Amino acid sequence: MEMSVAPCETESSESRDCDERDSNSQISRRAFVQSASVLGAGVVTGLPHIAVAQAHEAGASAPQTFHATITINGKPQQLMLDTRTTLLDALREHLDLTGTKKGCDHGQCGACTVLLDGRRVNSCLTLAATADGAEVTTIEGLAHGDSVDDLSPVQAAFLEHDGFQCGYCTPGQICSATALLEEAKKGELSLASWQSGKVSSPALTDDEIRERMSGNICRCGAYPNIVAAVRQAAGLGASNRKDRA
Ligand code: FES
Ligand code: FES
Repeated sequence: MEMSVAPCETESSESRDCDERDSNSQISRRAFVQSASVLGAGVVTGLPHIAVAQAHEAGASAPQTFHATITINGKPQQLMLDTRTTLLDALREHLDLTGTKKGCDHGQCGACTVLLDGRRVNSCLTLAATADGAEVTTIEGLAHGDSVDDLSPVQAAFLEHDGFQCGYCTPGQICSATALLEEAKKGELSLASWQSGKVSSPALTDDEIRERMSGNICRCGAYPNIVAAVRQAAGLGASNRKDRA
C-alpha cells in the first residue's frame, strides 16, 4: 500500500515530525496488514462473519451487532446479536430454549445438534448470522403438543426403548435421528454404505444407524437402546443383530 509521506532523509528541525509520520505510517501499515490477514483467513475458511468479528478486534471498523430474523420452531424471531454469537448461544441465552445442550462447544459431541432448514448441524459451530432467514427446529419444536401422545415418532421411540440415562445428550441425539430418517428416505449414503458395498438406497441396518449417529456422543453409553429407538422410529422393529454379519 503506497503511503503519500515525504521522505525523511535529512537531519532538520522537522525530523521529529518525520519520525512521528514514520511511526504513524508503520502503525497504519501494521493495522492494515493485521486486518487484511484476518479478513483473508475468514474468506479462505468460508467464514466471513468470523472474519468481520476478528477484524473488529484487530481495530478495523466493523459492525458489532447485527439484526437477524430466524424462524425457530415455526415462529419468526427478531434478534439483535453480537456478530460472534453462535446459534447455540442465541437459542439458549437469548431465547431461553435450553433444550439444546452445550457439551464440548467445539463440534465434537453433538449435544447441540439442531435442524437448520431440515439439515442437522452443530449449533455451537454455526454462527447465528448464517441462520438469518432460515428455519431452525430444536428439540422443543419436534412434538406436536404438550402431552406424551404428541411426541414425535423419534421422541416416542427413545422413551419406549430407554434411549438415555442422564439425558444430557438426548436432545441432540433425537434431532440427529430425526434428520437421519429423512436422509435415509432420500437414499443418502454413509461411510457404512460404501463399506458394505450397498451404494444405492442402502437399507437402514444397525451399522448404518451407528455410523450415521456417530457424531452424537453419549457418555452414559446408551448406544444399544439408541439404535433400537432409531430402528423403531424407522419402522424396522426391534434391534436386529443379524445385519452385522
Ligand atoms: Fe456442539 Fe459439542 S456442544 S458439538
Ligand atoms: Fe447421558 Fe447420553 S444419556 S450422555
